[in-house]
Amino acid sequence: MSRILLLNGPNLGTLGTRQPEIYGTTTLAEIEAAVAEEAAVRDWKVVSAQHNGEGELIDALQRHGDVAGAVVNPGALMIAGWGLRDALADFGPPWIEVHLSNVWARESFRHTSVTAPLAAGVVMGMGALGYRVAARSLTLLVPADHTFGHPDNSPADSPSDRPCDRPDDKAQAVLGPTP
Ligand code: DQA
Repeated sequence: MSRILLLNGPNLGTLGTRQPEIYGTTTLAEIEAAVAEEAAVRDWKVVSAQHNGEGELIDALQRHGDVAGAVVNPGALMIAGWGLRDALADFGPPWIEVHLSNVWARESFRHTSVTAPLAAGVVMGMGALGYRVAARSLTLLVPADHTFGHPDNSPADSPSDRPCDRPDDKAQAVLGPTP
């Protein structure tokens, strides 16, 4: 069974309580559930990894080069995360960059992303819903007979990787059910 990777960078593990006026009140667990719901349309599982350190994010990308696609919020590493950028350049599957906030409407230092030019698409300013949009886009874009990455070389999951379940009622209430 295919999987997609949900990758979140620094400070995104505290979603729900982190500057809710900017990032909303949806937690990462609720986002994982919503992405899992979208992925289930293609019978895909979701593996979620959130790290504050750039090295761990790079490790996760290299560990999961065999996924059908990825949804990536690099957080502030969008600005100057050159190591993450190079890892994404070597990541075979299609991936979509997500930002909860509209970075174009914020401080000027957020107006440049070193990662976005490599993405298949970018979703920003739609809050937690953006993750659902990105995941659904992957379900529509990835061909049925996809083979990405180097599955034979993929190391095993790390204990920090989280397999995600379909949403509970709470997540559906926050993000809305699949029509
Ligand atoms: C963010 C935007 C970044 O500029 C910021 O550093 C984040 C979150 C977003 O999702 O809106 O950590 O990626």
